[in-house]
Amino acid sequence: MDKKSNIIIRPAKPEDWSGILKAHHDAVMHKTSGHYTQEQKEAWIESMRTDIDERKESVQKGEVIALVAEYDGHIVGFATSSPSRNRLLQLYVAPAPCRGAGKKLLLAIEEKAVQSGAMFLEGSSTVNAVEFYRRNGYKIGQFNERELTRGILMQGYIIRKQLKL
Ligand SMILES: CC(C)(COP(=O)(O)OP(=O)(O)OC[C@H]1O[C@@H](n2cnc3c(N)ncnc32)[C@H](O)[C@@H]1OP(=O)(O)O)[C@@H](O)C(=O)NCCC(=O)NCCS
Repeated sequence: MDKKSNIIIRPAKPEDWSGILKAHHDAVMHKTSGHYTQEQKEAWIESMRTDIDERKESVQKGEVIALVAEYDGHIVGFATSSPSRNRLLQLYVAPAPCRGAGKKLLLAIEEKAVQSGAMFLEGSSTVNAVEFYRRNGYKIGQFNERELTRGILMQGYIIRKQLKL
């Protein structure tokens, strides 16, 4: 079996959150270079940690779907979506000795969103990931900036994919 087929995509469990935080940290620190400053990356990680209880609760209540990608027994990535709001919320894959986890997570979260009634998914892509989303069928929209924390801004682009006609 190749390294791609050894990637397991499954729903996140309550005990996965420390692995999710680590994957988020490593993806931000090591896969966004050249696009965001060290200050932005630190604020980005801090905002994820600040929001973590809210995120856990929304998954627990069933408002948000969370999937993880596991490789060799470790969580290498995760994706979250709010199908009732047609929102793709997060997609992160840490550096890992496998390829294809991001694509697998994206396809799986799209499938779950459709099963839950979403007609399309919309979100904000980081500058570094725009090409990844374009290749996976997303239309790239307006440039935007959002505040992470303490006035530190983060740049991105609106992305959207029609899932059902
Ligand atoms: C963007 C991200 C989720 C992609 O996940 P990944 O596991 O690295 O990507 P995959 O290995 O699944 O790549 C799938 C395909 O997209 C391509 N691809 C991946 N990242 C790409 C990028 N930044 N630009 C262009 N193509 C890219 C791959 O080459 C691959 O192509 P192939 O199918 O022809 O081989 C990941 O790089 C990441 O977490 N980045 C940092 C955090 C981030 O910005 N997340 C997005 C928040 S909106």
